[in-house]
Amino acid sequence: MTMVLAAFSTQQKLGVVIGAVLVLGWLGYLITHLMKAGAPPGSEIELAPNRKPYFDDDKLETKKLDSALGVALLLTAFSAVGLPAYWVMEAGRQTNAIKGFDNRAVKRGHSLFQPTDSPEHGAHFGCATCHGADGGGGVTKYVITDFLGRTEQVTWAAPAVNTVAYRYSTEQIRSILVFGRAGTPMPAWGIKGGGPMNDQQIEDLVQYMQTPVEDHGLKISLEGAKAQARQNAEGEARKMGKLDANGQPVVDGESLFNGNCARCHTRGFSFDRPEVAGGGRYGPSLRGGATVRQFPDVQEMTEFIKESAQYGEPYGEGGIGHDAGGGMPYFGQVLSDEDIVAIIAYERSL
Ligand code: HEC
Ligand code: HEC
Repeated sequence: MTMVLAAFSTQQKLGVVIGAVLVLGWLGYLITHLMKAGAPPGSEIELAPNRKPYFDDDKLETKKLDSALGVALLLTAFSAVGLPAYWVMEAGRQTNAIKGFDNRAVKRGHSLFQPTDSPEHGAHFGCATCHGADGGGGVTKYVITDFLGRTEQVTWAAPAVNTVAYRYSTEQIRSILVFGRAGTPMPAWGIKGGGPMNDQQIEDLVQYMQTPVEDHGLKISLEGAKAQARQNAEGEARKMGKLDANGQPVVDGESLFNGNCARCHTRGFSFDRPEVAGGGRYGPSLRGGATVRQFPDVQEMTEFIKESAQYGEPYGEGGIGHDAGGGMPYFGQVLSDEDIVAIIAYERSL
């Protein structure tokens, strides 16, 4: 018997046990019926349950009726109190359902973000390998091809993604993930861009990047984001040897531009081989008076850098915001007004 059972799965074993109990039950039923079969004819009339003498009126109309009414009252009271009580709890239940829904999305986003060889449970797409485990930025090897078809391996800086929530709208973040950034190590992830991720996975990652660190997301505080933009500029000032008497970096329009704008507006900047400063790459060239022509009014340029172009919406003299790949980020949250003034002066001098 054990030999036979060992070959079965747990479900099959359970099925066998339930089957055995059923067969035993039927047998018991059959046996009791067969035993009753010996009673004399006509006795079934006496034995029929509906032939049993019932309560007399006294008992029926007082005790029996009272208890039935009592139970009815209790049940009515239960419904009367229970429904509003249920309704009172409903708002909280719905809020928690939404919270739980979001929490699960963040959890899935976290899992998708992990390196592909992470021992954590779930699917991983390796964002952390390039962008850092905390999304604070990193580097990756990348093979570039020049116009003669010669290839070369470079080390490409991947930007921080723990502050994208302060620089891009939800639409923009979604678009960056779906279409990636052609000509950079950032691949297209969405199906529409030719990538491996379905819409739900893209949404989970967007949610993960927009959720604060304390709620298990990736987003650092606004102060942290401002400090990050500042540190980017300080790093560039140091690189250029722009130091004060105490050896501290002196941040100016150029270092602010290099730290926060150049990777999109200067070819080669991301792998330490910058070509013409502000000469254009993913973002257009800002040189030769381009920004002055696009924004004759400095105020309009300030607003553009603070708020960026909306997809399909005109800006400046002849610009149109393009969204595939996210477009231009907005800097009104992470850069101060003075920083933006300094960057604009630098850009207009290019
Ligand atoms: C092979 C390295 C690599 C991987 C893997 C990768 N990225 Fe990127 N990612 C980059 C690089 C490099 C850029 C900057 C591209 C550019 O210069 O325009 C970037 C840009 C981004 C940006 C825009 C940031 C900004 O400030 O412009 C976001 C958001 C982003 N990646 C999210 C992700 C997510 C989410 C994943 C995982 C699904 C991921 N990346 C996987 C290398 C990578
Ligand atoms: C992630 C890439 C990216 C970064 C970083 C970036 N830009 Fe841009 N920029 C763009 C793109 C793309 C456009 C074209 C407009 C659009 O489609 O959004 C643009 C357009 C512009 C324009 C308008 C140029 C024209 O002639 O139409 C200016 C000015 C500009 N950027 C300034 C900046 C400044 C200043 C910074 C840094 C504080 C910056 N950009 C950082 C991608 C970027």
